[in-house]
Amino acid sequence: MAVANAVLMAHRLLRPKLAAAGQVVDATAGNGRDTLFLAENTPNEAVVWAFDIQQQALTKTKQLLTKQLLIDKVRLVLDSHANILSYLHQPVDAVMFNLGYLPGGDRQINTCPDTTIKAITYSLQLLAVGGLMTIAAYPGYEHGRQECQSVQEYLASLKQETFAIACWSMVNQRNNPPVLYIIEKMKEQTD
Ligand SMILES: C[S@@+](CC[C@H](N)C(=O)[O-])C[C@H]1O[C@@H](n2cnc3c(N)ncnc32)[C@H](O)[C@@H]1O
Repeated sequence: MAVANAVLMAHRLLRPKLAAAGQVVDATAGNGRDTLFLAENTPNEAVVWAFDIQQQALTKTKQLLTKQLLIDKVRLVLDSHANILSYLHQPVDAVMFNLGYLPGGDRQINTCPDTTIKAITYSLQLLAVGGLMTIAAYPGYEHGRQECQSVQEYLASLKQETFAIACWSMVNQRNNPPVLYIIEKMKEQTD
């Protein structure tokens, strides 16, 4: 299908960037499917960082990546993505955010606007010039709607000389379908 969902669109947009990537980030590991995507599409020597605040999510991610024989290139971090600068000190080529709650897990444990915006801000500092960030947001429920709005407002405030930012969503789906934000760093940030 040419028209996919937000996460598949993110994968399609990121894939060409990953072929020569050295270091990439899954900011919300969840069940590990995006971590697996990043591990499968980066060079053998690349490092894939995967953050989540739930041990359950990292356990699932570890199991999936181990089964696919890709766990050696993955660094699992049980911490908030808002603390990314405590772990990464070198530029990254791609960052994925897939907001919301763990599918099949506790729906009360959600990404939150405050920490999400912090994590986006710090991740954009780490992003290499020419690097890509994708953010899948879910405005179909109240918490997700507020978070999506915060993300949109924050991204709209970023300088167009520094970042090219677009958003994608289905236009004929009911109930506020997911939104995918795509951010490309055009040049180093000066402020
Ligand atoms: C929609 S799921 C991610 C789906 C995942 N990428 C996959 O492929 O299965 C969102 C995840 O974000 C995690 N999360 C929530 N707040 C977080 C935070 N501050 N830092 C890192 N992860 C967080 C949740 O625990 C949940 O597992």
